[in-house]
Amino acid sequence: MSERRLQRDILSLLLEAFPRSVSGERIAELSGVSRVAVWKAVRELKARGFPIASSHDGYRLLTLPDVFDPDFLEPYLAQEVQGIRVVFEEEVESTNSRLKTLAEEDAPEKTLCITERQTKGRGRRGRSWFSLPGKSLTFSLLLRPRLPLGVCPVVALLAGLALAEALEDLGFVATLKWPNDVLLGGKKVAGVLLETATDLDEVPWMVLGVGVNVNLEERDLLPLPFVATSLQVERGAPVPRIAVLRRFLVHFFAHYEKWRDSQDFTPWVAEYNRRFAFLGKQVTIAGGKESLFGIARGVDAQGALRVEKDGEEVPVTWGEIA
Ligand code: BTN
Repeated sequence: MSERRLQRDILSLLLEAFPRSVSGERIAELSGVSRVAVWKAVRELKARGFPIASSHDGYRLLTLPDVFDPDFLEPYLAQEVQGIRVVFEEEVESTNSRLKTLAEEDAPEKTLCITERQTKGRGRRGRSWFSLPGKSLTFSLLLRPRLPLGVCPVVALLAGLALAEALEDLGFVATLKWPNDVLLGGKKVAGVLLETATDLDEVPWMVLGVGVNVNLEERDLLPLPFVATSLQVERGAPVPRIAVLRRFLVHFFAHYEKWRDSQDFTPWVAEYNRRFAFLGKQVTIAGGKESLFGIARGVDAQGALRVEKDGEEVPVTWGEIA
């Protein structure tokens, strides 16, 4: 067994046992190596920064480190999300762009590309996306729904909903701005960028990019051209990025797999509209040649926003609420 493989196995065992200890003897037995090899591997893991305590009981993780190292993140996510594969790069131009390349190279569905630093992070409608290493959560997820292009845009709405639910699991009250911005107290905390490859009959891949302002501070957010907030600003204390990621994946895949089987968004309409921040409010839809003004009446079974204008409701499938 390679040294790296052993370190990874040990991390998995410590995660499974967390916060309890696992004896060196048990690790050695399960990994098929000597206790000295285990001791050396633990020493390496500590040198890599993992908070592992050694005692007469064995080894244990002191805390769950908020890092994206795949040796740790993959088993951490796999505890709740089967088949997830983590690709981590310290710096990329954009996780969406990187994952598109991997998609063309036949990476499987459920490949997650995550980074600390994006040098050309992209937002919707040609905007850039701001993030900071150690503070932001920026990742992309590869999906291969093998469905016609026309039905796929609702995946971005499911992602927005799953993000809101993930934040709710962590004690926040999140709302949605159509199509898929997530808001806390009316301020943007997360965004979704869905990019799709087109094929004649079906979509061979989709890259779902997600950016969450997790531990950005107030002064980090000041230069942003829109009203933004972060989980840390709202809570007054840091929030583990990996917990946000894991809760998101759990909710998203539950929705996505059910939707993929039925291709019907109807079961999510009520859940989406319950969190929709603009229900019954005057909105401006931007992104087309001309903006559209009207009263937002919520999303329909196609994921379109129903906008009432001059007493008549029209479904809007383009643009976003400005
Ligand atoms: C938006 O609200 O405009 C969408 C923001 C999406 C940002 C994420 S960060 C990870 C992924 N990589 C990118 O370049 N963009 C998305």
